[in-house]
Amino acid sequence: MHDTVLVTGGAGFIGSNFILQSMKATRSALINLDLLTYAGNPANLSSIADSGRYSLALGDICDGERVAGLLRTHLPRAIVHFAAESHVDRSLSSPDSFIRTNVQGTLVLLEQARLYWSGLGEADRAAFRFLHVSTDEVYGSLSTEDPAFTESTAYAPNSPYAASKAASDHLVRAYHHTWGLPVLTTNCSNNYGPYQFPEKLIPLMILNALQGKPLPVYGDGANVRDWLFVEDHCAAIREVLQKGRVGQTYNIGGNSERRNLDVVNLICDLVDEMRPNAAIGPRRNLITFVTDRPGHDRRYAIDARKIERELGWRPTEPFESGLRKTVRWYLDNPEWVESVRTGAYLDWIKQNYTEREAR
Ligand code: NAD
Ligand code: TYD
Repeated sequence: MHDTVLVTGGAGFIGSNFILQSMKATRSALINLDLLTYAGNPANLSSIADSGRYSLALGDICDGERVAGLLRTHLPRAIVHFAAESHVDRSLSSPDSFIRTNVQGTLVLLEQARLYWSGLGEADRAAFRFLHVSTDEVYGSLSTEDPAFTESTAYAPNSPYAASKAASDHLVRAYHHTWGLPVLTTNCSNNYGPYQFPEKLIPLMILNALQGKPLPVYGDGANVRDWLFVEDHCAAIREVLQKGRVGQTYNIGGNSERRNLDVVNLICDLVDEMRPNAAIGPRRNLITFVTDRPGHDRRYAIDARKIERELGWRPTEPFESGLRKTVRWYLDNPEWVESVRTGAYLDWIKQNYTEREAR
């Protein structure tokens, strides 16, 4: 076995941040198995493309032979599994791809990992890890008064996305329970930061505000998310990979619960400050309340005391400074923004927003 980590979905938002951070912080070689769907962008990793320690393996996690071949060739000591369909709104209009990638794809990976791991020598078998990256959305929705999700909160997924991630979490658990595969699962809250595809709340609002377009807030804007800067999430995953107890799940959160409307207001103020534009005027005037997402979860909140107690990890980036860095990044990287706004992106924006009535 080599000091090699097989990352899936490493050309997406969190995966690419994880690879960039791991290249700096570790000496491991990193193989990135990614299908390069609309959400995958190899340009995220262009700064390390020539490094001998990183390589992209174009392929599908649902393709067992491809996965087996990579395991045989690279003999990794760990798999860190990010690859997924990740956008709730898309899961409402086309749930099938979520079941295929998130459920079937995770099953294929687990099965190939099990076959590979069973053939290793004793020491390598003990050292191997399968780390599954999941979400707080598997726990369902909270009211304002409810305590935050802990690792023992019952699963109650509400969207096809959340249901597909919940199913994948259960498969990971079953592979540990049945065959002893050394798995770790992390359930994280909403991430934000550089390289996030602009269909998610924060980058969508930054780019619309910049261009003076309407800022579509679903429902009353009082839904709450617990925001975590992506680099903090990646650091947490590295801690869990190194020191996490096999078979355990770890909740990861930012201790930064915010109402959507407050997040959007803050983005407006930051864009006004960094890119004032008299023709557009104050960006808060662009906020438009639109028809709510069906089944929209009211509140997510993470109790991250277990990972702090056991592994000493806690978030370091306060929300306000992290958001400032994020707005700066989108303003400073117009080529990246242009490169991801392809025809397919424009089709999605048309589909998701033209049918939503302003309220
Ligand atoms: P993303 O949509 O930005 O990236 C997904 C990546 O997976 C892309 O590079 C895509 O090309 C790749 N991919 C999709 N289908 C594939 C397949 N069949 N085979 C190989 N690669 C495939 O997602 P993200 O926001 O970076 O999320 C990564 C993981 O973290 C997901 O598992 C998600 O459920 C989880 N998560 C995300 C958040 C968040 O706020 N974004 C929060 C908690 C957990
Ligand atoms: P999103 O970034 O899609 O993440 P998730 O649904 O996984 O939490 O959305 C974050 C919150 O922002 C969620 O409550 C839905 C809301 N939202 C809007 O109000 N308008 C939008 O255009 C989008 C994309 C999201």
